[in-house]
Amino acid sequence: MKIGVIGGGQLGRMLALAGTPLGMKFVFLDPAHDACAATLGEHIHADYHDHEHLRQLADQVDMVTFEFESVPADTVAFLSQFVPVYPCAESLRIARDRLLEKNLFRSLQIPVAPFAPVDSQTDLEQAVASIGLPAVLKTRTLGYDGKGQKVLRETADVGQAFAELGSVPCILEAFVEFSGEVSLIAVRSRDGISNFYPLVHNTHSNGILRVSIASHQHPLQSLAEQYTAAVLDHLNYVGVMAFEFFEIDGGLKANEIAPRVHNSGHWTIEGAECSQFENHLRAITGLPLGSTAKLGESAMINFIGSVPAISGLAAIADCHVHDYGKAFKEGRKVGHATVRSADSETLRRRLAEIEALMVADK
Ligand SMILES: Nc1ncnc2c1ncn2[C@@H]1O[C@H](COP(=O)(O)OP(=O)(O)OP(=O)(O)O)[C@@H](O)[C@H]1O
Ligand SMILES: [Mg+2]
Repeated sequence: MKIGVIGGGQLGRMLALAGTPLGMKFVFLDPAHDACAATLGEHIHADYHDHEHLRQLADQVDMVTFEFESVPADTVAFLSQFVPVYPCAESLRIARDRLLEKNLFRSLQIPVAPFAPVDSQTDLEQAVASIGLPAVLKTRTLGYDGKGQKVLRETADVGQAFAELGSVPCILEAFVEFSGEVSLIAVRSRDGISNFYPLVHNTHSNGILRVSIASHQHPLQSLAEQYTAAVLDHLNYVGVMAFEFFEIDGGLKANEIAPRVHNSGHWTIEGAECSQFENHLRAITGLPLGSTAKLGESAMINFIGSVPAISGLAAIADCHVHDYGKAFKEGRKVGHATVRSADSETLRRRLAEIEALMVADK
């Protein structure tokens, strides 16, 4: 089985690391010369709009999948003529646009914070008048790691906000005073069976995910599964999807979905029976899904900018290091580690040991 992956970053790399033992081969299409997945398969070095190279990809693989959601709609439509594409074009169309996504949640009775489309400064002023402040202005498309968004706290922040985000179509959302952020990683097979991993508690700073801790029987697990199943079934989704929620007043408000394997699911590589990466590949290739049960306690910590010295990390018990082999860049995710333990106290201590190494390296 040969899988084409649009994008050759760390998610593509971890897909290949999971699929290679199953006998799968990978071809990545990515415009970057230094795409970090390239060493694990073939690399078609081309732009996402380049039909000649997209055709070359389609001609040599059994199916195509994606490692990011900002794939141009035209790319997906073009590929779909020649080869099965998972998840489907409609799933990507919705998930890449925050307004379509929020409208879908609302139509499926999934709670969301008040929001309004913003296509001009006048729209923004009207939206602020009805939603109030604080609020978050986000570009409808192409946002990631907190990029393409601005928190508006007071009236003075409103004046330049639309122009500062590039005067592109946006959405204004009420600022949610959440007590925590959780995500649910789900996988749906080609015959419509869905499995869910345990809810993950996520901590962000500067809009970037820092730490994910897999929960132990979270009280909101079944509610999160219910909301996620509604979206998966509506889209007839195939593959792994992540659903990010805000926890507020003992319930959940939907933030966003990611139509792909997700950073808050990296812990599943060592912390679950079958990882999100293997389960995504099982789903799209029509294999039975693997168990999503967790193995003890797990936490994942992202390395932003640089990876601490491997000698220090390797000395921490049950610490599993992933260095993506990416060049240093401020704010870039270049690796992660997952720590495991039988109990949550030891887990926190091991996490603190990793954090100490990150500080020492600065
Ligand atoms: N309406 C909101 N109220 C409060 N905080 C918010 C709101 N929207 C976003 N945030 C904060 O900003 C973070 C990033 O926002 P969001 O998930 O919408 O963007 P993103 O760029 O797609 O992020 P990522 O790529 O990390 O998933 C959220 O995890 C949350 O911490
Ligand atoms: Mg997010």
